[in-house]
Amino acid sequence: MIRTIEWTDQGVVMIDQRLLPAQEIYQNCQTYEQVAEAIRTMVIRGAPAIGVAAAMGVALGVRNLSAASGQELDARVDAICDALSKTRPTAVNLFWAIERMRRAYRACRHLRLPEIQEALRKEAIGIYREDIEINQRIGSHGQALLPDQATVLTHCNAGALATAGFGTALGVIRAAVNAGKSIHVLADETRPFLQGARLTAWELMKDRIPVTLITDNMAGHIMKTDRVQAVIVGADRIAANGDVANKIGTYSVAILARAHGIPFYVAAPMSTIDFGTPSGEAIPIEERNMSEVLELQGRRIAPDSVEARNPAFDVTPAEYVSAIITERGIARFPYSASLRALAEMNVETAQ
Ligand code: MRU
Repeated sequence: MIRTIEWTDQGVVMIDQRLLPAQEIYQNCQTYEQVAEAIRTMVIRGAPAIGVAAAMGVALGVRNLSAASGQELDARVDAICDALSKTRPTAVNLFWAIERMRRAYRACRHLRLPEIQEALRKEAIGIYREDIEINQRIGSHGQALLPDQATVLTHCNAGALATAGFGTALGVIRAAVNAGKSIHVLADETRPFLQGARLTAWELMKDRIPVTLITDNMAGHIMKTDRVQAVIVGADRIAANGDVANKIGTYSVAILARAHGIPFYVAAPMSTIDFGTPSGEAIPIEERNMSEVLELQGRRIAPDSVEARNPAFDVTPAEYVSAIITERGIARFPYSASLRALAEMNVETAQ
């Protein structure tokens, strides 16, 4: 399995996703500030992976602290959590993971510092391990939706690289392949950061899952002229009504899928569902630097003074989503009720 991120005695080690597929280089973050910078600059990206990195960042920050009074420690933990939460705004898993680390800290703050450090290390590693298990469960629920001999289109990278391992959307594809189905993946290149071309194609080829790369603007033509049985993507935040924020371009793919009668599936852990956000309109959309649009691998491709926009995510309205696949099962429209039912489900029966 691809090692996206790992907790080690030396620090938090992550594969530098900006350099893939040309170079497989691991970066070792020894401070929480370095972890925050790695999230901000997309060394690590993908909603669940960002959450795991932030949790490890909190644990690392606390591990590097020396003795302090209770109040000082509270303030330091707050500062670490605040810095990590300011890295990227859209993926709710970041805030979910930091909140979980805050809760873990509150539960042990009366203990001695080495015990607090150990409790937070365990919590972060717990989040990491759970994420892999959750993705495997998403995979086993979701694979039933994919027919044998299917061509499946995906956008961005919702694979092992975007999670602690196995992936969400690519996890469903992996589970279908493991169940003996023959699946051919169409990977959108995903301008401007090229997560599809650089990461999804690389990851699937490593697993010997057949993949064909297309540019984003080819999706409509291919849906019209070829057979595409399903679209499956991940999510950065799902509002309580089922509106889905995901990588820019997802909305266009969802509309195209509807126009061509192709089911459009979203695979995501329950931690991606933000019940505090009623609809997609309230989801903050990260606007990244114009240079990502104006340049290609550091080379300018547009006239010198032209302006550009670079929203990193868009929101697909719930009515275009055929199903949301979670570790607890599959939700269908209307999502306000079906997502709530999954959240309230007895976890024992959900597994
Ligand atoms: O900007 P990124 O690369 O962090 O965006 C990633 C995506 O949009 C993914 O599709 C999403 O996080 C789901 S990952 C399982």
